[in-house]
Amino acid sequence: MDKNRGIGKNNDLLWHLPNDMRFFKETTQGHVVIMGRKNWDSIPEKYRPLSHRENIVLSRNTQFKADGATVYPNLTSALENIAKWITPEQKIFIIGGAQIYSLAFEECDIDEIFLTEVDAALDADTFFPKFDKTSFSKILVQEQNSDEKHPFAFQIFKWSKH
Ligand SMILES: NC(=O)c1ccc[n+]([C@@H]2O[C@H](COP(=O)([O-])OP(=O)(O)OC[C@H]3O[C@@H](n4cnc5c(N)ncnc54)[C@H](OP(=O)(O)O)[C@@H]3O)[C@@H](O)[C@H]2O)c1
Repeated sequence: MDKNRGIGKNNDLLWHLPNDMRFFKETTQGHVVIMGRKNWDSIPEKYRPLSHRENIVLSRNTQFKADGATVYPNLTSALENIAKWITPEQKIFIIGGAQIYSLAFEECDIDEIFLTEVDAALDADTFFPKFDKTSFSKILVQEQNSDEKHPFAFQIFKWSKH
């Protein structure tokens, strides 16, 4: 998110930050990712389903099809089904967008949050929800200065539930 918690505009990301994307890929590969239908739509077709991950999409539209992903009408039914086949090594990552982040904070017991803080204040229409910081402690896991490939500096924090 940017300095104002912005994460998206016009159903697209606000930036192209290759090392942040690499961190996302390396952290989530091998695991389960749950996303909103708009986030799924925003991913270019050649990159979806996200590789080496079980892709889960939430949509209230029971007709919605997402090639290579499983669609569920609510988070509860998604989690109930995932519980039937997930391995002990696999984690479930909620990968946005804003509606699905909010839903997860409301309905789930979140163990960890990986949150990138981007050193910019951009024009956004979608925002990362505020959460109860007092339940978590944070450590810095990666830092990036701005350079020719990264228009903005950023820091990646891991927040862990006490
Ligand atoms: N910077 C980042 O880290 C990051 C990460 C992810 C996304 N983004 C950005 O975030 C934006 C998209 O976020 P968004 O908040 O607009 O949309 P979203 O959360 O990706 O998807 C919203 C959709 O999810 C479905 N949905 C929402 N609540 C539901 C529920 N309780 N049960 C079942 N389905 C439910 C609905 O789909 P239907 O309309 O089909 O019913 C709804 O339209 C884009 O700009 C994207 O680029 C940024």
